[in-house]
Amino acid sequence: MRIVIFGPPGSGKGTQAVRIAAHYGGVHISTGDILRAEIAAGTELGHQVQGYLDNGDLVPDELVTDIAWPRILEAALGPGYVLDGFPRTVGQAEAAYARATAAGVTADTAVYLDAAAEPLVARLLARAQVEGRADDTAEVIANRLAVFAKETEPLVDYYEQRGLLVHIDGLRTPDEVTQAIIAALDAR
Ligand code: AP5
Ligand code: MG
Repeated sequence: MRIVIFGPPGSGKGTQAVRIAAHYGGVHISTGDILRAEIAAGTELGHQVQGYLDNGDLVPDELVTDIAWPRILEAALGPGYVLDGFPRTVGQAEAAYARATAAGVTADTAVYLDAAAEPLVARLLARAQVEGRADDTAEVIANRLAVFAKETEPLVDYYEQRGLLVHIDGLRTPDEVTQAIIAALDAR
């Protein structure tokens, strides 16, 4: 099982990736979580990336690909993975695809969690009250949504062309979304 989950900020990538990884027995790999942990630990990498996360901009492709790839490869050679937040640009997808092709472990499926911006803003502002993530402010959320539309949404066509795309309505309850993903994956 080698699954990419992608979608706009707040679409439920993290929520669903944990469940899908548990269901199929793979490793949940979240580049956002990895980068936030580096920042929290005060590492050099954390200092390098903090400005990008604070503003809701993307960390450069090469840097994030080099961070993500060893974990992806290890999981791919073991129990499989559910990728949450990577790839996030066509450049990242192409770089990862080249490495995965060389290793014989390309992704099986790319699940797109589709959701309109307005309800997502409400979800993220609600999460800010609970988790206090630094990028869950109205201004940064607006930038994250704009960055998604410009940089990440083109992955819908990219994965469609590779025959990997599964399109899921992300604006249902979390349980309904999980059931829809599992049904779609089991049908492939
Ligand atoms: P990342 O951590 O990936 O953030 P994001 O894409 O903005 O997405 P979120 O984590 O905010 O939302 P989610 O889709 O995971 O939704 P969740 O399940 O939490 O990236 C953060 C930053 O790191 C980026 O801005 C960038 O700087 C950097 N970065 C990371 N990866 C990178 C990469 N590959 N390249 C470059 N830079 C990178 O749900 C959100 C909320 O809604 C939660 O409170 C949840 O409980 C709730 N919720 C979930 N599902 C539902 C539902 N169905 N109904 C109602 N509420 C729901
Ligand atoms: Mg997340």
